[in-house]
Amino acid sequence: MKTEILKLLRGTDGYVSGQQISEMTGVSRTAVWKTVRRLQEEGYQVEAVRNRGYRIVDGPDVMTKEELESLMSTRWAGKNIVYYDVTDSTNLRARQLGDEGAPHGTLAVADRQTAGRGRRGRSWESPAGSSIYMSVLLRPEIPPDKAAMLTLVMACSAAEGIRGCLEQEVSGEIPQVQIKWPNDIIINGKKLVGILTEMSSQIDYINHVTVGVGINVNMTEFPEAISQTATSLRLECGHAVKRSPVIAAVMERLEANYDIFMKTQDLSGLMEKYSSMLVNRDREVRVIGVRESYQAHAEGITKTGELIVRREDGTVENICAGEVSVRGVYGYV
Ligand code: BTN
Repeated sequence: MKTEILKLLRGTDGYVSGQQISEMTGVSRTAVWKTVRRLQEEGYQVEAVRNRGYRIVDGPDVMTKEELESLMSTRWAGKNIVYYDVTDSTNLRARQLGDEGAPHGTLAVADRQTAGRGRRGRSWESPAGSSIYMSVLLRPEIPPDKAAMLTLVMACSAAEGIRGCLEQEVSGEIPQVQIKWPNDIIINGKKLVGILTEMSSQIDYINHVTVGVGINVNMTEFPEAISQTATSLRLECGHAVKRSPVIAAVMERLEANYDIFMKTQDLSGLMEKYSSMLVNRDREVRVIGVRESYQAHAEGITKTGELIVRREDGTVENICAGEVSVRGVYGYV
């Protein structure tokens, strides 16, 4: 009921009468009024004017199921939402939901994580009220060795979704949203988003894939170790940003990009977009592997998501995300 009323209020520029809402939702005008009162108590600024009806002026920065559902315009991505005020890790929750049979596109979102996980066994700082911690459950019918590409599909979607939000938020020059291969999202050379993809599979069959995304939205301070390399939307825009519209925008892009990916089961349909956002392209990078570390010139990605680098002796190599990490020669990018 809250979701339907929020949707109606958001879908209208002016006022919607109690009568109209009652007809469209099939509940009494008293029930409509009571729901509006509850929304007001939760921090939604809903004006109620006699003989005109209701109008939404502003809403709180929350990521509740109702708030997210009222903003979501997708068919499957983020259609089934599970929200936690606090959880250990949304990746663990999504994985469990997957084991219990939750549908493709299920989205687990938390306001705070107590055991947020990053790539390479690192932890992901996850305080309350300031960032997005979310994980999407996917059930792709592809061989397990192709699942790693979903990380790049998400990187593309997060970058596009965030760029769309910045266009709404920033009146002057919009900061460039870029991807540091394979899947960090960068603004002004600093990390805004991290992505962690995990899979439950058999040798030749994927049970499900969890793509976890951490977006620094309103953080203004970071732990010492990342204080020089991390940023947030708030720091880049100069003002606070609401989190739910960012999630809805990323889900909308994910749905479109995933469908493109599934047509060929590779990145050929997304390469142009991805490459145009790739911060490493045409730059000198340091490739750090287990056995060797060398400097090379990054040229782009292959259709399976490897980074194409040219070594100083002219030889070209395609490097795999799982095997090496890439740094800029002069710093993080
Ligand atoms: C990285 O190291 O860059 C990846 C960070 C991924 C963090 C997100 S936050 C939501 C989801 N839940 C987790 O525990 N991790 C991912």
